[in-house]
Amino acid sequence: MKPSRNVVAGLGLAAGVYVLAAGLVALAVPTQAARPQGLGSAGPAHGHSHSHADAEPLSGPFGVHGDRHPQAPSFATPAEGLTERRRRSMNALSGHFRAVSATLLSDAGGAEMIPVHAEALAALGAQIDALFALPSAAAEGEQGALAAIWQEPDRFAQYTAAFSAETARFAQTVRDGGDLINGLHDLRYYCVACHADFRQR
Ligand code: HEC
Repeated sequence: MKPSRNVVAGLGLAAGVYVLAAGLVALAVPTQAARPQGLGSAGPAHGHSHSHADAEPLSGPFGVHGDRHPQAPSFATPAEGLTERRRRSMNALSGHFRAVSATLLSDAGGAEMIPVHAEALAALGAQIDALFALPSAAAEGEQGALAAIWQEPDRFAQYTAAFSAETARFAQTVRDGGDLINGLHDLRYYCVACHADFRQR
C-alpha cells in the first residue's frame, strides 16, 4: 500500500500545488485566539469562584494528575452546545483528513493507518447532517455557520449528502486498494465547497 519512492518523488509538484491550495482554502484549524468568544473554550462559563489556574484532579493507575482544561459545566443554549460539538467534530474530520494527506502527499509514513482514518472519515461523514440539527448560526460578523444552512435546508442537504457519499466512496477506495491520491483530492472538494457556501470566516 505504501507508495514507492518514485511515485512519491513524482508527486512533488502535486504536493506543492496542494500546499499552495491548502493555504487558500478552509481546511486550516483556526487558533483558539482567533475565536471571537468563549463558545469553544473549556473554561467555566459562569462567574463563580472557579479560577482558570485550578486544575481538576484526575486519579488513575499513573497517579493523580491535574487537568487544566476541564469540561465547561454547561452551555447557555442547546444551539451553543451543538456548535461546540460541531466544531470539535469538524476538527476531528480535519485531523483524519490531514493525517491521510501527510501519508499520501508528504511521505510522512503511516500507510498502514490510512484504513483507520478513512473509516473514521466515513463514520463521521455519514452523520454530518446531525451536526446541523438545530439552528445555530454564528452571530453577525463572527466566525461560524451561516444562517443559509437553515434558511435553505434542501440546498444544504445536497452538500451533506454528497459529503457522506464521498467519504463512503473514499473508504471503499481504500478497502479496494484504489487510487488514494485522486480519492483524497475528490473528497477535499466537498469540504471546500461547503465551507465556501455555508461557513462565515
Ligand atoms: C456540509 C458542509 C460541510 C462539510 C462537508 C465540511 N464542513 Fe467543515 N465546517 C462547516 C461549517 C458550517 C463550519 C462552521 C461551523 C461552526 O463554527 O459552527 C465548519 C467548520 C470547520 C472547521 C473549523 C472548526 C472550528 O473549530 O471552528 C474545520 C477545521 C473544518 N470545518 C474542517 C472540515 C474538513 C477537513 C472537512 C472535509 C473532510 C469539512 N470540514 C467538511 C461545514 C462543512
